[in-house]
Amino acid sequence: MAKILVTGGAGYIGSHTCIELLAADHEVIVLDNLCNSSEEALLRVQDIATKVMTFVQGDIRDSAALDRLFQTYAIDAVIHFAGLKAVGESQKFPQLYFDNNIAGSLSLFNAMEKAGVFKLVFSSSATVYDEANVSPLNETMPTGTPSNNYGYTKLMVEQILQKLQQADERWSIALLRYFNPVGAHKSSRIGEDPQGIPNNLMPYLTQVAVGRREKLSIFGNDYDTADGTGVRDYIHVVDLANAHLCALNNRLNQTGCRVWNIGTGKGSSVLELKNTFEQVNGIEIPFEFSPRREGDVATSFADNTRALSELGWKPQYSLKDMLADSWNWQKQNPTGFN
Ligand code: NAD
Ligand code: WQD
Repeated sequence: MAKILVTGGAGYIGSHTCIELLAADHEVIVLDNLCNSSEEALLRVQDIATKVMTFVQGDIRDSAALDRLFQTYAIDAVIHFAGLKAVGESQKFPQLYFDNNIAGSLSLFNAMEKAGVFKLVFSSSATVYDEANVSPLNETMPTGTPSNNYGYTKLMVEQILQKLQQADERWSIALLRYFNPVGAHKSSRIGEDPQGIPNNLMPYLTQVAVGRREKLSIFGNDYDTADGTGVRDYIHVVDLANAHLCALNNRLNQTGCRVWNIGTGKGSSVLELKNTFEQVNGIEIPFEFSPRREGDVATSFADNTRALSELGWKPQYSLKDMLADSWNWQKQNPTGFN
């Protein structure tokens, strides 16, 4: 059992990870400024886990608050989810993204170093890969110049962490490159709750299903894929949460900085996802084809063999599970946590 600081723990992936950490008997301290989440998620996590966590409402850019936190709790390791993630918004407000995601991360790493805490799991993204790579993407393939500022912040923080570790061997860092997280906890009590119009496919689709949006726009049907629509590697958020536990256990016993892809290794197209959603949930999804979205690639899916062999992690959930669980969460919480 260890004491784990979870930044961004009230968010979508963080809240699911807290449940798994509590189930594994870790002590959890969440630091979140609630800019894209609600405290209700944390209350529900404690209910589901029948265990308590400590919640500190605060910002990773607040160095004094971080110092206080590290002085108060003898933290063993940090899982760092806190960050902004809307691609379109990052194009409009680059400074906001650089400040929150890059400066915020630096402020956290400084506070960790001061406190002598060197174990870290960082939320990176498959978006850091060079678009010229052909899927399945593996960790030895080159990173590129991300087409948007959000992706750029992920690449920058990865590179900063690699350099920190090269300079000081005490650091032990896991860079987890997530593919496309979807789904929700089986209890349907926590799930993804985007503010405003969803940017991502799955929350948009479930909001159409629940009647909050009229129809799904499928961005492009002329890609070089089997049915012309974009292919992605969707991964159940509970499988992703478990990957954090495996990465944490790995890092607690080793040093270095290591990258792992966290995906299922299987690509699904937008049409396949919509059609399977209809079959699994018995709901028809009105849709139209619309032009390609700028910055999208045709196909992206993971080679996950490194995570399978080195982390002892294995995804358990199928696409059908992901679609059923996403829908159950949306159906039972039509307006999210509100
Ligand atoms: P989320 O928005 O649900 O969770 C992020 C949490 O961080 C929120 O609770 C938010 O309030 C908090 N936060 C943001 N800025 C903060 C700050 N400065 N100080 C303190 N708290 C702050 O997002 P998520 O989907 O759970 O993503 C978690 C992490 O994973 C993010 O870093 C994201 O970029 C990364 N990621 C997400 C995806 C995805 O598709 N969801 C894919 C790849 C990587
Ligand atoms: C999936 C597929 C779209 C919405 C993004 C970020 C990435 C990571 C995960 C966070 C694509 C299509 C979508 C819609 C559609 N983010 N689509 N209609 O673009 O793979 O990845 O989220 O940290 O960095 O770039 O995910 O869910 O937006 O799109 O047809 O209304 O669905 O074109 O093929 P994406 P997505």
